Amino acid sequence: MSGLDADRGAFKTPTLREVARTPPYMHDGSLRTLDAVVRFYDRGGRMNPHLDPAVRPLGLSRNERHALVAFLHSLTGQVIEGGTRAER
Ligand code: HEM
Repeated sequence: MSGLDADRGAFKTPTLREVARTPPYMHDGSLRTLDAVVRFYDRGGRMNPHLDPAVRPLGLSRNERHALVAFLHSLTGQVIEGGTRAER
């Protein structure tokens, strides 16, 4: 907690590394799937007086939502001993 008024209601932004393996999501585990997370952001999050202006209704198409979920899945993988595939 910084004690600064500007930080009121703020959460530490979590890593998205390995995110497909770590449901449920958000600090309260309220979203069970990555699809639900993307829908949550598409709706503009949950309104509160401290909501960051970057969280606003996005009007994503079905394809865009699917692409975002696929992207989030791409952040999960296997660690390969001796380096990444690209390095071998
Ligand atoms: C479409 C855009 C976005 C996607 C797909 C996305 C994805 C995610 C995901 C998957 C989580 C859950 C992580 C977990 O519980 O392990 C998360 C949480 C979070 N994201 Fe985003 N994010 C987006 C936009 C943003 C923006 C614009 C901000 C900041 C202004 C932000 C800040 C955060 C914070 C603070 C959390 C933690 C919330 C909590 O614990 O309740 N995200 N995000």
